[in-house]
Amino acid sequence: MEGKTSLFLLSWFLTISLVFSECPNGCTCPTSTQVDCSGAAITEVSDFIPENTKTLQIFNSRVTELTDSPFQNLSVLVILRIERNELSQISSGAFDSLVNLRYLSLSNNRLQELPHGLFKNLERLTTLLVANNQLSQIHPTVFTPLKNLIDLQLWGNNLKFIPQGIFDQMHSLLKLNLGKNSLTSIPANSFEKLAKLQALRLYENKLREIPEGAFARLGDLTELGLHHNQVRRLPAELFSNNQNLQKLFLSNNLISALPRGIFANLPELSRLTLFGNAFGKITVGVFGPMQKLKELWLYDNQLLTLPNNVFSNLTQLQLLSLSRNKIHSISSNAFNGLNELLELSLHTNALTNLEEEVFSGLPKLQNISLQNNKLKSLPRKLFRKLSGLKNIQLQNNSLGKLPPGFFEPLEHLNEVKLYDNPWRCDAGIHFLKRWILLNQLKLGNSSQVVCSDPPLLRGQPISDLNDDPSSLGTAATTINADSAVPEDIETPGSTTSYSQSSGNPMDETSPLLLFGTTTEEIESSFVTKSSSLPSPEDGRKRGLWGLTSLQSGVVIAVIVLCCLALLCTLIVCGLYKRKKSSHVELRMKQPNEA
Ligand SMILES: *[C@@H]1O[C@H](CO)[C@@H](O)[C@H](O)[C@H]1NC(C)=O
Ligand SMILES: *[C@@H]1O[C@H](CO)[C@@H](O)[C@H](O)[C@H]1NC(C)=O
Ligand SMILES: *[C@@H]1O[C@H](CO)[C@@H](O)[C@H](O)[C@H]1NC(C)=O
Ligand SMILES: *[C@@H]1O[C@H](CO)[C@@H](O)[C@H](O)[C@H]1NC(C)=O
Ligand SMILES: *[C@@H]1O[C@H](CO)[C@@H](O)[C@H](O)[C@H]1NC(C)=O
Repeated sequence: MEGKTSLFLLSWFLTISLVFSECPNGCTCPTSTQVDCSGAAITEVSDFIPENTKTLQIFNSRVTELTDSPFQNLSVLVILRIERNELSQISSGAFDSLVNLRYLSLSNNRLQELPHGLFKNLERLTTLLVANNQLSQIHPTVFTPLKNLIDLQLWGNNLKFIPQGIFDQMHSLLKLNLGKNSLTSIPANSFEKLAKLQALRLYENKLREIPEGAFARLGDLTELGLHHNQVRRLPAELFSNNQNLQKLFLSNNLISALPRGIFANLPELSRLTLFGNAFGKITVGVFGPMQKLKELWLYDNQLLTLPNNVFSNLTQLQLLSLSRNKIHSISSNAFNGLNELLELSLHTNALTNLEEEVFSGLPKLQNISLQNNKLKSLPRKLFRKLSGLKNIQLQNNSLGKLPPGFFEPLEHLNEVKLYDNPWRCDAGIHFLKRWILLNQLKLGNSSQVVCSDPPLLRGQPISDLNDDPSSLGTAATTINADSAVPEDIETPGSTTSYSQSSGNPMDETSPLLLFGTTTEEIESSFVTKSSSLPSPEDGRKRGLWGLTSLQSGVVIAVIVLCCLALLCTLIVCGLYKRKKSSHVELRMKQPNEA
């Protein structure tokens, strides 16, 4: 029994050691056909790689050279990956026996050239990766044998030009990546034989122009990356044969104009980046119908205006970014057709005003950013048809006031930013103050929304002002104050201070404190804050509320009339309600009346 067991163990041991003896020194062999020689200890390719090896990989090692010998008998090798080594020399016959190789990666090495004839027997190769090396040129015929290549990655080298005809035999190529090189131009016929090409990446080069017809034979192209180059001009017909294009990246170039019709025939486009260029305008007819385009990025250009209907073919667009341009005017119908738009970004432009109807064709809009413009005022009905609006950014503009009822149609509002505007805290601020008090949470920190004018109120949070319009309490104060500031009083130090005129805000003679205004509110009101008292000079130049005497006169007259009307209404109401319900009357009573 014991002898049998030890015999079994011995034979088992022999089998194992036999298998492992096949594995080269310092390497591991996960299966009998896979060899992995990775790690810093490896400095050259072993001469003892088993002939039946199908996969050989050497990662993160210090191999500097490939000679002919180690690969000589590896005719069944399918995958060879020598990545992240220090490879700088390859013998031109190194791969001669690898007639079954399908996948070859030499990425992340220090290759400066690919010797002529290197790939002469690799007819079956489908993937060739030589990314992140130091190739500065490629021999015009080195790729000629690679008739079955599907994926060629040459990005991250130092290629300065594409030799004539270099890709002409690659009839099966689907992906070609030439990004991150130093290409300054591409021959017009470079890609003309790549009839099956689906992805062409030319980003991060130094391309100055793209020749007419460069992509004319690429009818199957779905992705084209031309971003981060120095292209100034695009031929109008450049994409006219690329009806299957889904992604087109043109951002970060120097393109100064988009010719009419350039995107007219791209019905499958779902991604288009145009930001970081130099367009001064977009003309009508640039964008054809694109049912799949959801986002359009146009920020960081030089746009000055937006003409009517310019986006009207982009009926499925959800996001339109036009920020950081120089837009000073937008035609009323510029956004026509954007029925699905959810987010519109117009911040950091030069807008001073907006047409009332400009957003009326955006029924689904949720977010709009208008900050960092020079908007002085906004039409009352600007957002009238945008009942789904959730997020409005209006900070850092030149807004002195907003029209009453401005936010009224907006039932779903979540966030409104209003700070960094020169709010004018005169009688017209009532609406805004009331709205702020009712919607503090939507403003984030409402105490950042402060008055800029009149000077004595500068820095005062609007929400702290005592001007609840439902009470008109401050209107009464205004009467007192203004009547105490006759225009002709010029004596310095004359008693034109607000604390005096409003010294008794609880004045029994003011019938208008009836609703809701509590003693506390009045005491915290701006009129009693000594820190914000004006200098006599301020008082002389501009009356209370910063009005001229003529304006003051009109205001007073209007207010007196209003007061009278309100008083009458009150009396009538009071009589009527007393009859109807004594409960209501209790609520109307002023605490200090009780
Ligand atoms: C390749 O095979 C030949 C004959 O089968 C043999 O003589 C030679 O030593 C082998 N070379 C290597 C590197 O294993
Ligand atoms: C919409 O697309 C059609 C077809 O490409 C084009 O003729 C028309 O000019 C485009 N309209 C606009 C406003 O760009
Ligand atoms: C609107 O803005 C909010 C807050 O910034 C964001 O979370 C949300 O995703 C935006 N909605 C759309 C449709 O862009
Ligand atoms: C306010 O907007 C101007 C442009 O109108 C911009 O230059 C400035 O940086 C903005 N300020 C802040 C704090 O964003
Ligand atoms: C609100 O803003 C004011 C003024 O900028 C600041 O003093 C205060 O700390 C802020 N409060 C909060 C909760 O951020």
